Amino acid sequence: MKLLVTGGAGFIGSNFVERRLEVHPEDHIVVLDKLTYAGRRENLEGAASDRLEFVQGDIRDRTAVSAAITGCDAVINFAAESHVDRSIETPGEFIETDVFGTYVLLDAAREAGIRHLQISTDEVYGDFSGTEGSATESSPLDPSSPYSASKAGGDLLVGAFARTYGSDALIVRASNNYGARQHPEKLIPLCILNALAGDQLPVYGDGKQVRNWLNVQDFCAAIDVVLECGATGEAYNVGGPDELENIEVVKRIIELAGGDESRIDFIEDRPGHDLRYSLSSARLEALGWKAEIGFHEGIESTFAWYRDNPQWWEPIRSGEYRDYYLSHYGQELGAGSDR
Ligand code: NAD
Ligand code: DAU
Repeated sequence: MKLLVTGGAGFIGSNFVERRLEVHPEDHIVVLDKLTYAGRRENLEGAASDRLEFVQGDIRDRTAVSAAITGCDAVINFAAESHVDRSIETPGEFIETDVFGTYVLLDAAREAGIRHLQISTDEVYGDFSGTEGSATESSPLDPSSPYSASKAGGDLLVGAFARTYGSDALIVRASNNYGARQHPEKLIPLCILNALAGDQLPVYGDGKQVRNWLNVQDFCAAIDVVLECGATGEAYNVGGPDELENIEVVKRIIELAGGDESRIDFIEDRPGHDLRYSLSSARLEALGWKAEIGFHEGIESTFAWYRDNPQWWEPIRSGEYRDYYLSHYGQELGAGSDR
């Protein structure tokens, strides 16, 4: 196949491209990525091949999308503004990319007559703390943040295009991913890098919020299955094997880094914070997928990757992210380095 992978220079997209080219030696991939603060060309170094083409461009730009889609058999849309905290500060960018950008891609895929696979999130189902159960694909959409509302908007457009125009469009909804090359604004890399640097680890509220952690390699394998076997107009949940409180995750990272719990700062909670996410992946498991990497194994290899690849994260910790960190957390990064 020849795939158009939008947002392929980000965390999950770059892991997907690398794995896909390895597992499917006949495939060609065109990556279309705007290279926002979250996207980096270096993320695709491990995937370099004459079967990979990189185009810098915006999914909202129909001309760029039409050029990139030419000759492709399917589009996989990873491109998004992806960080909940930033969506609370600047929601407009999320609506523009995650809703309008998704529309532009859907329209181009419809015109080209090819499959559109939308990468979405468990956050569209909202808070599941009131129930023991897990979200299924027919649970109502009830997003809490501007990020999750924008992703829900994208999902609704996918359904509308399938129903109204007969587009071959479908959705995967994943729980919290972790692994190599995730931007340190997200909880796990943030805590690993702060622990390694001697900085404090910021935990929102009491840290008892529950997330359903999914190793990025398991998610990439799931995307392959849905791309190949998923039904038009349907959504497929991809949940991780473990539900953990944030505080358990943070304590495990401290243990791996060799520190103690005085390094944790309990700080003001995120507004509208969802207390629990939980996905049922039964529909996807019926197609043959199963998560293979448990959190306790996955966090060790993830910790080792960040520890062993400072050349990847040092430019981030000394760039725009420094200013973001100071303005969001009210603390300088690196303030604890002489501790
Ligand atoms: P990320 O922020 O690491 O990467 C997003 C990528 O999209 C970046 O390379 C960025 O440059 C690119 N991008 C942003 N706006 C663009 C635009 N207008 N045009 C072209 N490219 C643009 O995000 P991620 O964590 O890799 O998430 C990828 C996708 O998976 C997103 O759609 C996200 O909503 C979804 N998702 C993420 C998780 C998770 O835990 N990280 C879980 C479920 C779903
Ligand atoms: O659930 C899937 C979603 O997971 C994806 O759709 C999003 O793109 C992705 O960013 C992620 O969203 P979360 O908000 O769950 O991830 P984050 O890493 O920001 O936060 C994980 C949990 O940790 C959440 O309960 C908030 C908490 N947290 C986060 C940060 C950044 C803290 O306690 N302190 C922090 O400094």
